[in-house]
Amino acid sequence: MMREGAPVVLVVEDEPVVREVLAEQLGELGYRVLTAASAEAALEVLDGTTPDLVLTDVHMGGLSGVQLCRRLKADPRLQLTPVVILTGVADLDSRLAGLAAGADDFFAKPVEFVELQTRLGALLRVKFLLDQLERAEGVITTLGLTIEARDPYTAGHCERLARYAVALGEALGVDPPTLKALKLGGYLHDLGKIAIPDGLLLKPGRLDPEERKRIQVHPVVGAELVVGLKTLEAVRPLIRHHHERWDGSGYPEGLEGKAIPLGARIMAVVDVYDALRTARPYKPALPREEAIGILLRETEAGLWEARITTTFLELLEELDPPS
Ligand SMILES: [Fe+2]
Repeated sequence: MMREGAPVVLVVEDEPVVREVLAEQLGELGYRVLTAASAEAALEVLDGTTPDLVLTDVHMGGLSGVQLCRRLKADPRLQLTPVVILTGVADLDSRLAGLAAGADDFFAKPVEFVELQTRLGALLRVKFLLDQLERAEGVITTLGLTIEARDPYTAGHCERLARYAVALGEALGVDPPTLKALKLGGYLHDLGKIAIPDGLLLKPGRLDPEERKRIQVHPVVGAELVVGLKTLEAVRPLIRHHHERWDGSGYPEGLEGKAIPLGARIMAVVDVYDALRTARPYKPALPREEAIGILLRETEAGLWEARITTTFLELLEELDPPS
């Protein structure tokens, strides 16, 4: 019986009998089953669907199950889909190749029904949790956009910042977790502005010292809001320190130089540039050349890290092309 919402398992097996037996057993376990008679056929199926798990044979004439696995693990859309490889008990080579290709588990042929039941169940539970985490990330990103939406002056700011920060991080050679944090940080850096009333957030004139202080707590409030959210752990320092300055004159902690987390130093530069290029209640949007000039002067004055500004300006031709 197929039921709505049941996990979808793609079986890739060239032997019709084995394929049918597996499909039948999986069906009995309540899974929705898709089948493919070759790795090539599987790729076609995967073009249109994202299954919850892929169960694949190794040797199938054309592309092997190990090669299929490698392709899936290199595809951002399918990376988190567990891949289980079916091998002969003695086929150590395939197991090693499968491991190197990122396979999540191996089943020896012939597959035992109980093994199928317990181990697929475990893999799918992990997959389900990962899906939930991804959804939580989506909710948080939406929250960032909601904050942006309160302020009509900053339309597109989050998306531009995420794009600028990731490109800059890549050019600076930061590690993949930091890159991911930079992307999320584009949306979440100002999360703490949720605690600032509209009247203050959108105030056109100059701020008095008391009002300035209230605005300046937003990095701390934002960082507090994501405490305990595992997926956002790497984004937290970036939220907390995106207004620090290289010379120590920033807030909330007045950190100096490399004591400021790298992600926050990157976010600071792209945030400042985009703020200059965007109209605010108290100033118009500046032309590109003028914004570059200010960023350069501020960097010379010691506010921003020179290496980061230089790299950013090299990328600008592409990120914010001259009109
Ligand atoms: Fe901010």
